[in-house]
Amino acid sequence: MEHHQKWTRPEPLWREDMALPTFETLKEDSATEVVVVGGGITGITTAYLLAKEGKQVTLLEADQLLNGTTGHTTAKVTAQHGLIYHEIMKHFGEEEAALYYQAQMTALQKVEELINKYEIDCDWTKEDAYLFATTNIGAQKLEKEYEAYQTLGIEGELGETLPFSIETTRSLSMKNQARFHPLKYLSALVEEFTKLGGEIYEHTKATDVQEKDKVEVMTGDGFTVACEKVISCSHFPFYDGKGLYFSRMYAERSYLLAIEPEKEVPEGMYLSVDEPKRSIRTAHYNGTPLLLIGGESHKTGQGVDTSFHYNALEEFAAETFGIKKKLFQWSAQDLTTLDKVPYIGPITRNNDRVFIATGFRKWGMTNGTLAAQLICDYVTGEDSLFHELFKPTRFKSDPSMKHFLSQNFDVATHLVEGKLELVSDRPKHLKKGEGMVVQWKGERAGAYRDEEGKLHVLDTTCTHMGCEVEWNSAEHTWDCPCHGSRFSFNGSVVEGPAEQPLMKIAIQDKNDAPIQNAGDDYDENQESF
Ligand code: FES
Repeated sequence: MEHHQKWTRPEPLWREDMALPTFETLKEDSATEVVVVGGGITGITTAYLLAKEGKQVTLLEADQLLNGTTGHTTAKVTAQHGLIYHEIMKHFGEEEAALYYQAQMTALQKVEELINKYEIDCDWTKEDAYLFATTNIGAQKLEKEYEAYQTLGIEGELGETLPFSIETTRSLSMKNQARFHPLKYLSALVEEFTKLGGEIYEHTKATDVQEKDKVEVMTGDGFTVACEKVISCSHFPFYDGKGLYFSRMYAERSYLLAIEPEKEVPEGMYLSVDEPKRSIRTAHYNGTPLLLIGGESHKTGQGVDTSFHYNALEEFAAETFGIKKKLFQWSAQDLTTLDKVPYIGPITRNNDRVFIATGFRKWGMTNGTLAAQLICDYVTGEDSLFHELFKPTRFKSDPSMKHFLSQNFDVATHLVEGKLELVSDRPKHLKKGEGMVVQWKGERAGAYRDEEGKLHVLDTTCTHMGCEVEWNSAEHTWDCPCHGSRFSFNGSVVEGPAEQPLMKIAIQDKNDAPIQNAGDDYDENQESF
């Protein structure tokens, strides 16, 4: 079959054929007990659990429910979060590593309990999860990880081969993990939440919090929701509250394909520990077994030509399994904290009204459910074994400082290098559907020509803290390498921490009517499109 042919628009498998409920936009000031911001697995589960505890809960979603990271996941429900246990043992200690595992398994059991309780038909399948190595160094890492499993009492086996044609040096299984269809599961929880009297508003962007006598959540349309507690379950915290979260996490993009393979589909969930990382799991679509092949992570805004990543996954899929049919492709953005353990808890020390849950790396299904459980305990005043380990205000100097310095060095480098970068491309070089950084009147600018041939030109200075955004050719977005903000081709915010859109540059396309604010600074002799 021919590869690298253009796929259709990036679309995750999970949204296909799903009739998700829709909700009104908030159009007036209101009041409630708890506001939950973010309609992914964390927000929906938190809202549901709190409503179950008798709380009056309002959930605000900036876009549509389940259209963010949760809608773009690999949906592995597992405590095998790559190579993590040896590392946590080393940096936090044995007790903390054991707690991390216990916390993830508690979350997995919670998902299973809810599926059973409401008889949710969501393709829930118990399977073993596997890490695999293709190099000797990778094999040594797996041996160390296995030692950690043994110390912590994690049920797993060290092996050598996998049930498909990749030459491996080692594999490490974790028993009794699971996979499911996340949107089928969560749409059932949405239904239960609304039955309990919970309110949901879509297309309602929470933009700020005022901490007065009551807490007030402000929306982009100028309304407020007064409440006692607010929980930020948006991917990047929508409100920083002096927690400086943008400097304590970094964003990575990764890519996924759903294919119908030529070879038989192996049971189990697989993840490589060597580079380039590859994630493999099965799924079903209209009764046909599919493979989800993921990988190609890179820091947001540093992926160069992002289509390259889909092509690399496609090559791998074709070589390993054969491709009968290519069905879906999509990408996801994940946030990682400085010590790889999520931030779940009070936004700043002793704040008992604003809570956050973020930084799940790529493991949002268990971490998101866990966050919902931990935050529910905070709100209802229950103690939890796990609160301390996940507290956002923890400070572990060793790994944190090293990553903190390199992350901020990265940011400083982008701030300086981005500004100095010499660009020679002009907007006239752009074909329909193409975007690139161009030179506009001697300055760096971002240009995109849409499918109708209209040109959109933006100032590439990120409105968060001034780094230079880069074009993401696979997603048609402008991505910031510093803290992961993303903007659409017309500059609107797709993902924070930025809150303001990129500035439009007023130009006039000589092939067309004025595009934006038809600029009087347009000089046809100087620039041509
Ligand atoms: Fe922070 Fe762009 S996201 S500078």
